[in-house]
Amino acid sequence: MSEPFDAVDVIVAKRDGHRLTAPQIDWVVDAYTRGVVAEEQMSALAMAILLNGMDRGEIARWTAAMIASGERLDFSGLSRPTADKHSTGGVGDKITLPLAPLVASFGVAVPQLSGRGLGHTGGTLDKLESIPGWRAALTNDEMMSQLERVGAVICQAGSGLAPADRKLYALRDVTGTVEAIPLIATSIMSKKIAEGTGSLVLDVKVGSGAFMKDLDRARELARTMVELGTDAGVRTVALLTDMSVPLGLTAGNALEVRESVEVLAGGGPADVVELTVALAREMLDAAGRPDADPARALADGSAMDAWRAMIVAQGGDVDAELPVARETEVVVAERDGVLSTLDAYAVGVAAWRLGAGRARKEDPVQAGAGVQLHVRPGDRVRAGQPILTLHTDTPERFGRAHEALAGGIVVDDGGAGARGPLVIDRIAV
Ligand code: URA
Repeated sequence: MSEPFDAVDVIVAKRDGHRLTAPQIDWVVDAYTRGVVAEEQMSALAMAILLNGMDRGEIARWTAAMIASGERLDFSGLSRPTADKHSTGGVGDKITLPLAPLVASFGVAVPQLSGRGLGHTGGTLDKLESIPGWRAALTNDEMMSQLERVGAVICQAGSGLAPADRKLYALRDVTGTVEAIPLIATSIMSKKIAEGTGSLVLDVKVGSGAFMKDLDRARELARTMVELGTDAGVRTVALLTDMSVPLGLTAGNALEVRESVEVLAGGGPADVVELTVALAREMLDAAGRPDADPARALADGSAMDAWRAMIVAQGGDVDAELPVARETEVVVAERDGVLSTLDAYAVGVAAWRLGAGRARKEDPVQAGAGVQLHVRPGDRVRAGQPILTLHTDTPERFGRAHEALAGGIVVDDGGAGARGPLVIDRIAV
């Protein structure tokens, strides 16, 4: 079959700063998915997009082309409204775990198609797999039936959703083109729109532990995604949230499940509760339940009931003991003073190196590995007082975890103080 365009012409157009036309975009995304546009050609195009950008029309068309590369799910047959949340990823970000059942406890369906961790950020599926028996892979029929019965599903995204993105994301990962805002926005939103949710709340992280280290870029990413969702008929809002410090007091799979259960039991760290409630309010509002009170559902046990039903529906033993790492080591304060820095990226890399994350997609993770925090930035500490506990099954990993933390923990005479606000801004159109 003869092709209507030549990949080199498309690359040259973007290299020279021109807009790509709708037919060019449709063709290049489809031809890449079919293997007609070669990896090296898409790699050059991705770099040209990173350097020269795309306008709103190009971004919307690229997203539509990625959606058209695969299947679309349809939740319109459900008796409940749907609301989903997506986080751009951070350290200790376990919010999906309490949030999905919390929102479901108000009669809203939460289809949470999630991923595994790669690099220093953890993956929701890895966390839930530390619960004995829990199953990440569901068929579309199983997912629909669980949404109708229980309301919340957290499962693996099937390979049928936006296959163009699967291929392109793997290529970007090895060509220095992950950070392009048009490519991040189209990657995330093509999957969310194809998934078919009626409303979407985006948690765009900013800070050392996030993809976006600076506020202006995070804001631009958030605005681009909100526009894309809105243009596609999905009620979309974004919260910009701080990721300079880990969320909560744990980073690591079973450690984070335990902390999430504390939140569902009405306790847990204040920042995890604050963000869970803030995101739940947005989801409930977008799903037409503006008067719902998520803080009350954490306190009165209804969110916990929905959690138990969600875990059991996917084969999990909700009462089983969670795995515990075989070895621990404590990091202590070297002097009296104030903990002025506890860097999210350093803690994320340490948890990853202890075995909580993976270096390659195929690697296994350790359920019990990770980092537990005993103090928060702004807290006064005494020399010798525990700051962190490191957990792993493989003690030869402690050395590299300590290296990751060097410079990430600072105790001084104070001044820098506690972190700024957790929710920095709200972006809606
Ligand atoms: N998550 C995605 O799904 N895609 C990106 O490009 C970045 C984060």
